[in-house]
Amino acid sequence: MKKSSNLHKILVIHGPNLNTLGKREPEIYGSTSLSDINKDMAKDGKQLGLTVETFQSNNEGDIVEKIQKAAGKFKGIVINPAAYTHTSIAIRDALLLLDVPIIEIHLSNIYKREPFRHKSMVADIAHGQISGFGVHGYTLALEAMARLVTQRR
Ligand code: DQA
Repeated sequence: MKKSSNLHKILVIHGPNLNTLGKREPEIYGSTSLSDINKDMAKDGKQLGLTVETFQSNNEGDIVEKIQKAAGKFKGIVINPAAYTHTSIAIRDALLLLDVPIIEIHLSNIYKREPFRHKSMVADIAHGQISGFGVHGYTLALEAMARLVTQRR
């Protein structure tokens, strides 16, 4: 196991309403809580050589500020902007400040759902998108990020 000082620091941002995972529309988003997702990511991250910091907010401005402050501190960003995916030019613009890989993630397959969810403000500035794999998507995102930050493409 690597010493924590050697681990690559990754920020995972969870957007609005994701704090209610487990209770919220479980037929779409599953029954796992956000705190369980975060615990699993901490474990998976360690195995992959990553330190995972997580942040959740229901407020667009708080997410923008967190992204602004992330500059220079993290090797990569994994973001589920939730409903802001489809609306937020402010989050997109903040992400454009960063020069680290960005992975966009959604629990549900947004392209199988209502047409207003088919548009993502982030997709074209992200390295890639993971959509439709439920909570397993977070493991996939960390695996992909570990490859990106260690240049093992
Ligand atoms: C979501 C999809 C969004 O359309 C929705 O607003 C969410 C969650 C997902 O993870 O599937 O809140 O980002």
